Formats: sequence, C-alpha cells, structure tokens
Amino acid sequence: MSAELSPADLASPAAISSWIPPRVQPPRAALPLWRFLPAFLKNPLRGIPEPVYHEAMFVPSSMRGRMAWITDPGLVEQVLLRQADKFSKTEVERRIFEPIVGGGILTANGQDWRWQRRLLAPLFRPSELLTFVPQMTVALDHLLARWATDTQGRVRRIDDDMTDLTFDVLTSTLFAGCTEAEGTVLKSATGKYLERTSWEIAFEILQFPKWLWHPYKREMRRAAHDLQSTLTGLVARERTKGWASGGLGAKLGAAVDPDTGQSMSDAMIVANLGTFAAAGHETTAKALTWALYLIARVPHWQNQIRDEVARVVGSGVIEARHIDDLVVTRQVLEEAMRLYPPAPVMTRQAIEEVTLGGRTFAAGSLIVIPVYVIQRHRALWERPDEFDPTRFAPERAKTYLRTQFMPFGFGPRICIGMSFAMIEATLLLAGMVRGADFFVDKNVAPEPLSRVTLRPRGGMPMRVATRK
Ligand code: HEM
Repeated sequence: MSAELSPADLASPAAISSWIPPRVQPPRAALPLWRFLPAFLKNPLRGIPEPVYHEAMFVPSSMRGRMAWITDPGLVEQVLLRQADKFSKTEVERRIFEPIVGGGILTANGQDWRWQRRLLAPLFRPSELLTFVPQMTVALDHLLARWATDTQGRVRRIDDDMTDLTFDVLTSTLFAGCTEAEGTVLKSATGKYLERTSWEIAFEILQFPKWLWHPYKREMRRAAHDLQSTLTGLVARERTKGWASGGLGAKLGAAVDPDTGQSMSDAMIVANLGTFAAAGHETTAKALTWALYLIARVPHWQNQIRDEVARVVGSGVIEARHIDDLVVTRQVLEEAMRLYPPAPVMTRQAIEEVTLGGRTFAAGSLIVIPVYVIQRHRALWERPDEFDPTRFAPERAKTYLRTQFMPFGFGPRICIGMSFAMIEATLLLAGMVRGADFFVDKNVAPEPLSRVTLRPRGGMPMRVATRK
C-alpha cells in the first residue's frame, strides 16, 4: 500500500521536524581487519566507526599508526591548505582513476598539477559558465516534457532521470561537439566504471598488486577502454576542425599557457575530458537526487522553492541573472549536500613525516577526510542528522568554518567545477520544482552508499506529477 505524504503534510514543517533521513549505521568501535573488509565492500562508509563522529581524529590500531580519519576542521585545514605541500593525492585514488583519467588534473601532483590547473581555471570562471544557462534550460525542458508524456502517476527511478539530465547538460555544454552515439558511450562507460571501484580500493588498502583478478576487473577494463577510445576519436576530430566546436575539448586544444606558450597534448586533453565526464555529472546528479528525495519527504520545502521561483522568475524562462536570487533553492541544495555529500570521502597521503594534532605520521601514511562524517559531526552541528535548510540561511551560513561544510573540498585542490555545478543544480532544481510535484513513499529510505559518489542503495523510486 502506498504511504505517500498527505496534503496536510504540505503545510506543516512541524510534522516532520523530528524526521531522521536515512543514514549509515556506523559500527560502535573500529572493526578488526577481517570484519572491516566485508563491511567496506558493502559500503565504505560502514567501515567508519562511531568514535569518528565524535572525536577530532581517530587512528585505528589495526593500521599500526599509518592511517587516520580526521574530522576536526582545524586539522582538515592543515592537510588541505596549510601543510598541503606535505601531502599528495593517494595511491588509492590513482589506482581507481588512472585507467580512465590517467595524466589529467584529478590525479596529477606537484608542478604537473599546477600547470594543468592554471590552463583549465579560466574555462571555469562563473562569467564563462553563465553563458551555458540557455543549454541547461533546454535540457530541463526536455525532461519536463518527457515527464508530462510518459510518467503521470507512475513511480520512476528519479536517480536515473537525474543522471540523464546532468549528462544532457554536460554533452550540450562542456562536451558540445560530441555525437549522440559518443554521448551514450561516455555515460554508460563512466557509470559502469565508477560503480565497481570498491574492489580496487579494498585491494589497494591490502596492498594487493594491480593485476590481481576480481569479479569486475574485465568490466572495468572494458569501460575504461570504451571511454578512452571515444574521447581519443573526439579530440582527433576537434583537431582537424581547428578546435571550432566551442566545447571544452576545443577550448582545451586552443588554450596556451601565457608564461610558457605550452599547450596540452592530445593525450592530456583526452585525460581531462575523461575527468570531466567522470567528475562532472554523476556528482551533480546525486546532489539533485537527494535534494528531490528530501523535499518529497518534507513538501514544505517544495512550496518554499516554488514560491521563490514565482517571485524571482515568474512564469518565464530561468535566466543567468536569476541564479543569484534563488536563495532558498540554494539553501535546500546545500542542506542536501551536507547530509549527502556527493563526494563523501577525500584522501591524502603524507609525502614526508608530518605532525597532526600532536601525533606524528610517517611518510606514506593515509589521511582520510570523511566529508560525510564531518558534515554530521556531533561536535560541529546541532541535530546533525536532521534535514533543516534554514541552517544555510545567508546569515547562519557565514558562521560555519570552511572545513566544516565542504562538499566541494577545500584549499588549492577545491573542485574546479564548483561554480558550474552550483549554477546547474540551482537552475535545474528550481525549474523541476516549478514544473512538477514530487512524491515518495514514506517507506522508501535508501541507505547512502559510497561508490565514489554517494548513491541511494537500490535507487530512488519516486512519483512525479507535472504541473500545468
Ligand atoms: C555537486 C557536484 C560536485 C561535487 C560535490 C564535487 C566535489 C568535488 C570534490 C570534493 C573535489 C576535491 C577532491 C579532493 O580534494 O580530493 C573535486 C575536485 C574536482 N572536481 Fe568536482 N564536484 C562536483 C562537480 C564537478 C563538476 C561539474 C566538474 C567539472 C565539470 C568537476 C570537476 C572536478 C575536478 C577536475 C576536480 C579536481 C580538481 C583538482 O584536483 O585541481 N566537479 N570535486
């Protein structure tokens, strides 16, 4: 029997104020290795013990002092900013991402990273990105039209819809110039690859060699190959056309370092396009999926967003000039990304001996920054597991430390696509809520599952009813 919320729920935020959205049940204490591994494979967040949610730093005894979870904002700032040159991206990350984005900005370190970041940064300036707003509204309109014709009354997988939507945005903006067939390969290959990464992470922690077989090795290799060969074809075509498509590949091909006159090789462009395909849509799709789930459970916030869009935009097209004024919409998104950070864990490796919080870590130690836990930390947040977008009302949001709420990371390696993602997600959430009502059965409570991005385990079934 359906247990959707009744119209009475629409009016009252009080009725749901004590509702606790789905969360991971942490083990009470650090697990011994033989129990940690199965828990980790099931959901890496299940390997993080309860004390990490209370303490500033936790060093599990099973890792002989060579691994720590850190949650204290001051310590996080040490790792990501103040002592950032003593840490690199990790072997774990390299092992997961190298086959699809090897040589690109995501896994690069030192001078190589700095150079790539300098060349890429101008392409991600807000002024540049706001020019993509019309393409974003076209993708939104396609989705609303599809919902109007094929969905009325039917429960559908909203997480799949969000992946399609953000991929449509990606192919019409950063990947302008790629064909529909290429787009299909990019979407399915990145999705398949990211789904299967936990085995590689666990193997790296156990220091098993890269060639060692596991049940998804073949599938991952095939996906990596499909992604690489599609992007290589795309870049070769862009080069012959003189980088004219206006997409990111073309802009990268044409970009020249003002200091050295150097430009990116085709292989490096391929690696970075792979990076943007992997980092640039699943993350935003998951932010939107969780936001829609939360406001379907707490319809008061659907109404708040709808009122805001009516006030700021009216019934016309959402334009670049409206984005900054969609304050409530952004608050809902930020609270959704606090509870369900699309990138739930960051990692760093000590390059040399370092001291953190009075403890010395040898070179090679693994420092895990569990954003999911930090954003629910008992010492940092009131009612940490509850959904309350008023936390991000402009005056209150200013009071948080920058390493207390950091869905996009922090420091020099902060997400380069942050503005792109925020413009896109704000516009899409506002437009979807103006165009449709969202309902979810009260019994739907998917576990947040870390598979590089934070997915709802088993998907997110919801009902959408478009509005006239
Ligand atoms: C809601 C959406 C997104 C979230 C939550 C997110 C989150 C993050 C986080 C946490 C990092 C830092 C990782 C670390 O320091 O270890 C990061 C880096 C990165 N992100 Fe995003 N991201 C999002 C969207 C995007 C988009 C749309 C793009 C590109 C179009 C993108 C491209 C990148 C790249 C290239 C990096 C690496 C930057 C560097 O190392 O210099 N991301 N992202």
